[in-house]
Amino acid sequence: MPVSPVPKTTANALETQGIGKRFGGFWAVKDVTFSVRPGERRAILGPNGAGKTSLFNILTGDYAASSGSIRLFGEDVTKSSVPKRIKNGLRRTYQHAYLFDGLSVHDTLFLAVAGLRGGWRQILPVRKSDPRRIEAERLAEVCGIPEFLDRMVSDLSHGQRRQLEIGIALAEDPKVLLLDEPAAGLSPAERPQLSNLLLSLPTDVTVILIEHDMDIAFRTSESVTVLFNGQLMAEGTPDEVMANKDVHEIYVGGTHSE
Ligand SMILES: Nc1ncnc2c1ncn2[C@@H]1O[C@H](COP(=O)(O)OP(=O)(O)OP(=O)(O)O)[C@@H](O)[C@H]1O
Ligand SMILES: [Mg+2]
Repeated sequence: MPVSPVPKTTANALETQGIGKRFGGFWAVKDVTFSVRPGERRAILGPNGAGKTSLFNILTGDYAASSGSIRLFGEDVTKSSVPKRIKNGLRRTYQHAYLFDGLSVHDTLFLAVAGLRGGWRQILPVRKSDPRRIEAERLAEVCGIPEFLDRMVSDLSHGQRRQLEIGIALAEDPKVLLLDEPAAGLSPAERPQLSNLLLSLPTDVTVILIEHDMDIAFRTSESVTVLFNGQLMAEGTPDEVMANKDVHEIYVGGTHSE
């Protein structure tokens, strides 16, 4: 896995100190401290309900943290709004898709580009030579569906939709990309294509990937963080994490449901 060389003095792309999220008396995420270097590829593993998506929601600002702090490239963003974090280069995809079936792939990617460059007040159609449409074409290429530009989203396969979601998240050169189970619902045949797409992402983009598919997680990530009951259970290389007794217990011992 190619990783961009990073001088030791460079701030971490993302760093948390004791972050948590409480719903009533229940901590969905509790006291999680971890950091990710610029350009690093990190997988987040953990059984259903472990707090993985909630962790993403805290990082993006969709959930206000109940405890702790978050730094993005050294800047404290714990209290920053979602748009501010997007402006700082943070992007995400969602576990459950939110695409509009009635749009073409081209228009979907155009809106992603236009939305970031001037709010969601854009009116279609626009000139063919509009640089934002050309950027949309580039994104279709990067996410591996250039031949489907004119296709309606409703006509895409599930795998192509997941690729399109990654294309949307890549609008305007993100610095940190949070991907929430991009392989969910993919057929065995579609999975290698997704791995290849993840491996082909620009090497300077920091990628944090929630993934239940171990093959995809380990093939595309150099480091792994395991959450269990909202807390950090293990961290290390894929080999180190798989050798961890507690991790082995939750995956092989039957606590894992997928
Ligand atoms: N908005 C919310 N209100 C109340 N409880 C919530 C909320 N969001 C998440 N939770 C709870 O927090 C816990 C962690 O949920 P989360 O969705 O983060 O898990 P996950 O690791 O992403 O699971 P999965 O692998 O199934 O996607 C669960 O018990 C969930 O019910
Ligand atoms: Mg989840």
